[in-house]
Amino acid sequence: MRTAIMPGSFDPFTIGHVDILKRACAIFDFVYVGVLVNCNKKALFSPDERVMQIQKVISAAGIKNAEAQVFQGMLVDFAREKGACACVRGIRSHRDYDIELEMADINRKLYPELEHVYLLANAENACVSSSAVREIGVFGGDISGFLPDAIYEEVRERLEAKV
Ligand code: PNS
Repeated sequence: MRTAIMPGSFDPFTIGHVDILKRACAIFDFVYVGVLVNCNKKALFSPDERVMQIQKVISAAGIKNAEAQVFQGMLVDFAREKGACACVRGIRSHRDYDIELEMADINRKLYPELEHVYLLANAENACVSSSAVREIGVFGGDISGFLPDAIYEEVRERLEAKV
């Protein structure tokens, strides 16, 4: 059984994340989507809300071999706890690459057995990010093209409530 983790903030989960998750699920037997508890008071959704949203997206997409869970602290500890052999992340650009390279170097020093697997984002998702969703949504812009249908309304309502 080859298990992977797909860690992130996912505030909120975007169509880019869905694409990476589906592709990771085709490679690994099971994928745990790890939602980081980062004590960021400015977060749009609580970690538990995000887990529930990701679970909705997983069900709506018919994905059978993934589950979302909250994790606190170090990524490598979450990977160990789940018996994961790999950490999956999506890369959209050289900017993502630079950040990922540093994180992977740190993680490798802490847990050399954990492999890092990077999936290149589809070109149409290159501009899709959780921060773009938050920024566009707070100004009442159209975020439907950035979000999975299963959570679109919930995210739109939360952003509208912030104005
Ligand atoms: O979606 P994000 O915000 O780009 O995800 C970043 C994440 C959660 C992968 C990263 O912040 C992380 O791994 N945090 C846990 C703390 C940790 O393990 N740090 C050491 C690696 S930099």
